Amino acid sequence: MCGIFGYVGSEKASPILCRGLKNLEYRGYDSVGIVTGSSQLEIRKDVGRIDDLKTRLSLEELGGNLGIGHTRWATHGRVTAKNSHPHTDCKNKVAIIHNGIIENYLELKTKLVERGHRFSSDTDSEVIAHLIEEWLSKSGPLPGTASSVNGSSFEDACTKAFKQLRGSYAVLAICEGEEKIVAVRKDSPLVVGISEIGTFFASDVAPIMDWTKDVVYLENNDFVVAEKGDIRFYNLDSGEVKRPVSTVEWDLEEAKKGNFEHFMLKEISEQAETIQRACVQDMAVVDRIAGMIRSGYGVFFIACGSSYHACLTGSYLFSKVANLHVNVVLASEFENYEHFLTKKTLVFAVSQSGETADVLEAVRAAKRRGSRIVSITNVMGSSLSREGDELLLMNSGPEICVLSTKTYTSQVVMMALLACALNGDHESCLQKVKDLYLDIYNLTSRSMRDRLKALAGDLSSQDHIYMIGRGLQYTTALEAALKVKEVSYIHTEAFAGGELKHGPLALIEEGTPVFVFVSKENGDRIVSNAQEVKARGGFVIGVSDWDNPVFDRWIKVPDCEDLNPVIQAIPMQVLAYELAVQKNLDPDKPRNLAKSVTVL
Ligand code: M6R
Repeated sequence: MCGIFGYVGSEKASPILCRGLKNLEYRGYDSVGIVTGSSQLEIRKDVGRIDDLKTRLSLEELGGNLGIGHTRWATHGRVTAKNSHPHTDCKNKVAIIHNGIIENYLELKTKLVERGHRFSSDTDSEVIAHLIEEWLSKSGPLPGTASSVNGSSFEDACTKAFKQLRGSYAVLAICEGEEKIVAVRKDSPLVVGISEIGTFFASDVAPIMDWTKDVVYLENNDFVVAEKGDIRFYNLDSGEVKRPVSTVEWDLEEAKKGNFEHFMLKEISEQAETIQRACVQDMAVVDRIAGMIRSGYGVFFIACGSSYHACLTGSYLFSKVANLHVNVVLASEFENYEHFLTKKTLVFAVSQSGETADVLEAVRAAKRRGSRIVSITNVMGSSLSREGDELLLMNSGPEICVLSTKTYTSQVVMMALLACALNGDHESCLQKVKDLYLDIYNLTSRSMRDRLKALAGDLSSQDHIYMIGRGLQYTTALEAALKVKEVSYIHTEAFAGGELKHGPLALIEEGTPVFVFVSKENGDRIVSNAQEVKARGGFVIGVSDWDNPVFDRWIKVPDCEDLNPVIQAIPMQVLAYELAVQKNLDPDKPRNLAKSVTVL
């Protein structure tokens, strides 16, 4: 998703902006731009990667001690230089960068064009620069949009312009002749970093941590004015406000690759530790949440992607361990269920980033109906971490790779912990998670990787891969298929074993690879499904703790009962990684995908 970076202070801004944008790369982007200066604005932008553009556009040469920079992930308008940010007003005096969606941009643009404004891009974002220009001008506001005014200061003009926007936005704005950055956020992430050399703005904490760990998490509608040596916080609804400075507790080293070639491999390798950290919870809070589940009149789990798979796994665990039914709904589909919500409903919102727009929208809809919210996220200070009545943190440390790996297994462990808490027995879960340490260590070892690398070599030219499982192994198959498809671009699909004969069996032909996830519990039935595949010429790859004659290949994993979804996911993450590497793809940044999906 788009990334925002801004700096004002005592140092030359352009090298800082380039480094900050480089640090934001993991969010995914297609174009880059920066603008610096105060007496005169200097703008450079184009399609491409930051490292190439830094040289080609001499980005680090731009002068001035303040500037803003942007990595764009196209939503409105094609991937072109003119659509890249920053965007400016008609006279190139005001420059803005924006992350989010301006829902009423067409309405605003039409009025601005009628007033003589000339637009240079197809983006929704550009209206912001023209609106500020409009409010700065002597001629007053857009007819019918606000009360009249005759010219405003830059801050004033920004406030008035921001109040006209509908949608989600994190915006940084600068203006020729002004030594300040003006910022605003609503439903899009924006963090402020405070340091001795100046003030930083970014979409996330990690990119700021090269300079400071002291950050301010902004509330919705917060409006910030930062100058060299001074920063003021306002809220568009309530005037000047105080915002606490928090110190980031994790270390930047955790967000760096270390000796690993890719973040994906590093993050896969951290899981022996991260699942332990997922269990470090205040058990009084866990018990309180278990009580809320028991007394909830309807319990919904909402999430997207891998987080959704973790919730589905949770629903099987709750059913099996605690004899309790919960509803699991894709956040993007939740509007179809909203009418069931009441004050007694309990909604779990699960999101690694805590910024997924679909999840936040669903949470806000649930809050409007008075339902109680439990947030489960990995990012302290994220929007989701501030939306809920109760909060559980995953404690996985930063996950930089676009694919969820360590945070998925942490989420599953947290589901298991809640399921055990429903039975008044966290201890059994904690012990089982401790026992996984060595198994995970082995599954991420060099020798296991080499075996999976060989298998990846055999599969990398395939066009289709299928995966089947039953119960907890079905949700594992769903997650494994997502991992393989998103990073290797091989069409990979998962089915419940029992569904094969209802359609998917037609896809099996000579040599079609089918992964079969097996556990002791459902062993016989899923092995029968594997035989159905084999009988049609399929190439069966078993993932289980025992070998079976039906398997053409066998990935050996220990049997960890309810925690099999953790243990069986890990070799599939490694396989997905090896497939990407063998196909010369970047596992950390799959095409068309972003780490934090902040648009609906
Ligand atoms: O940050 P979230 O957990 O809300 O993200 C949800 C999905 O976007 C995410 O899990 C996505 O599917 C990943 N690419 C999966 O690897």
